This record gives sequence, C-alpha cells and structure tokens, in this order.
Amino acid sequence: MTQKTILRALGGEILPTPPIWMMRQAGRYLPEYRATRAQAGDFLSLCYSPDLAAEVTLQPIRRYGFDAAILFADILLLPQALGPKLWFVEGEGPRMETVTTPQQLAGLRPKDDIHDTLDPIYETVRILARELPRATTLIGFAGSPWTVATYMIGGRGSKDQAAAHKLKETDRATFSALIDLIADATVEYLSMQVQAGAEVVKLFDSWAGSLKGDDFTEFAVKPAAKIIAALKARHPGMPVIAFPREAGQGYVGFAKATAADCVALDNSVSPEWGAANVQVDGCVQGNLAPEHLVTGGPALVAATRHVVQAFRKGPHIFNLGHGITPDANPAHVQLMIDTVRGG
Ligand code: CP3
Repeated sequence: MTQKTILRALGGEILPTPPIWMMRQAGRYLPEYRATRAQAGDFLSLCYSPDLAAEVTLQPIRRYGFDAAILFADILLLPQALGPKLWFVEGEGPRMETVTTPQQLAGLRPKDDIHDTLDPIYETVRILARELPRATTLIGFAGSPWTVATYMIGGRGSKDQAAAHKLKETDRATFSALIDLIADATVEYLSMQVQAGAEVVKLFDSWAGSLKGDDFTEFAVKPAAKIIAALKARHPGMPVIAFPREAGQGYVGFAKATAADCVALDNSVSPEWGAANVQVDGCVQGNLAPEHLVTGGPALVAATRHVVQAFRKGPHIFNLGHGITPDANPAHVQLMIDTVRGG
C-alpha cells in the first residue's frame, strides 16, 4: 500500500495536491457534533466517553473525507489527570484549580499515575485506529508545557498569560519544576496514544507568542525538544507536528531546534514568509485564516489558492492558522476542500 499522504508530506515529499485537515474539525460548527455533544451531556463527558468521542472524531471524516483525523480530546485533560479540578463554563471556557505554590506542586500526582484518568482517551484512540478509513492518518496530541502551565497557574485562559509570567519572574524554581513535570507527563501521555494507534502527534503551544527572547528558548523550544527526543527514542520515526502559535521570528529554526518534522503556522505570518523562512527546513502546516470559513465566497477561494500556491515548492499540509470557529458555515469548508483538491 502506498503510504498515507499526510505521512508522505511529513517525510518531506512534495505532493501535487497538499493533504488537508483542519484544527477543531470536530466541533460546534457541525450539527452532528452538537447532537452528539447533547447526547453526552457536556464537553468533558464527551471527551471521556470513548464511543462518543470516536464518533465526533469520525464525523468530519465522513462528511468531508479529510486526510487526517485528530483525536477528540482536550489539552486540559492531562493537567486534570495530575490532580487539579477542571470544569468548563458555558460560553466562557475552561476553569482549573490553580497551582502556584511549592506545596501545591508537591501535591500533584506523579507522572506515572495519570493513566487511570486518561484510559478512556487511549480507548478512543484504539477505536479510531480500527474504524478510520485506510487512507486517513490518525493524529494524537497534547498541549505544550508552557500553554498547559498558563491554565494551571492562571486557572483560566487569558489574553496575556499574566499569572504564568508573574510566577516565572517571582518563583522561577516552582515555575520550572512545573514545566518539567508537565513535559515528563506529556511524554507518558503521548507515548500511550502512540501505543494505542496514533500515527502522528501534535504539540499545541497556543500561547507561545507571549514568550520573548530567552524565555522562548527556555520554555517553548527546550521543552518541545525534550518531549520530541523522548518520544522518538521510544517510538523511532514517529512524526511530530509542533505549533508554537504566534511565535513570529521564533518559527525560524524551530524545526531544527526541536527535531519536529513539521511546524504549523498561524495566520499572523504570510504564506510567502512561511515558505521562505520555515518551509526551507521541512514540512509546514497551515495557514488559512479561519475567518474565511465564516465569510466564504470568492475571498475564501482566492485565499485558499494563495496558501496552496505559496507552499507548492515544498512539503505542505493544508490547514487553518487556528481552529475553525463555531459560527463557520459547513458549506464553506467544502468549498475550501474543493479549491485545494480541484485547483
Ligand atoms: O477537532 C480537534 O481539533 C480535536 C479536539 C481538540 C479540542 N481542543 C476540542 C475542543 C483539540 C486539539 C483542542 C486543543 C485545545 N484545547 C487547545 C489548543 C489549540 C487552540 O485552540 O489554541 C486549547 C488552548 C484548548 C483549551 C480549550 N478547550 C479552550 C480554551 C476551550 C474553550 C474555547 C472554545 O472553543 O470553546 C476548549 C473547549 C473545546 N475543546 C471545544 C472543543 C471542540 C469546544 C467545547 C464545546 O463543545 O463546547
């Protein structure tokens, strides 16, 4: 069997049509997702119900035939498995019990004790490995230590990640120990996803853009490099996609510095800039602005062609620069796919 297109692109091949999937492709813009989520009761119950989580993972594959499926779960399930309570406020987002003191840090579970909580996630992966079409690649994922730490320290999402920056400046030892613990637990978590059948893993560093200078090296580059080295030691050849969102100049050299096989670009950088500065080192993923899937029309077609054209001379996986939003129109997603595949 010829290798799956996503794996070929990750291996550095330039394909005539870039493979395509979409961040948050299982989500609220799809009526079938909303129905399954209602059946589960709430978002976390959906994540922890393997049959339903597998079902919502498969929905966008059935509807659109994307080249990859991403496990349906959340980056905050790993910190939850370390001990802190997690809940979601309807219409607002996640809330977590905070970890800011050495005592609270010491009270977290050791990394080897996360699997009881996370076992349903591995079961979702096993179901998907059985049920996905043969051509579809299964992507597992986790949050990067910095992004996960911002939620653990701040207790919620924020625009500037002020609480995490403050702990980093006032109690470096506790902050660094938390980053190390998350990194070590992430290796265990991703390794179990791979054993269950994930063929690629992606590290989401959604808040990497607020780390500047040495902090970016210390807390975005180094933890990613450490996680990737450990994973590849256990699972030789396992491809990794890294997403240091809004890293700007930090994207340059990120693949080399971390040994990531692919760097996902957000839409604050132009595709031409990405091709010249990041794709020179290997595969890139991205980076259509998700707003186009709300507005659609000729602007969507033009922007999609622009992304494909700019990245056509190197290995490329077509994706959005960030997750699709709940107000996107499912018909616009089809138009994007037809444009990528049909020219
Ligand atoms: O389809 C997929 O992409 C796979 C599943 C997935 C989800 N979250 C499901 C989800 C993935 C890969 C994530 C990653 C994630 N989760 C990130 C990193 C990527 C990013 O968006 O920057 C972050 C920061 C989180 C934390 C998180 N989860 C937030 C901040 C929120 C609330 C914001 C929102 O969109 O509502 C969530 C909830 C969440 N995670 C939803 C989904 C489908 C919406 C939940 C719902 O159905 O109500």
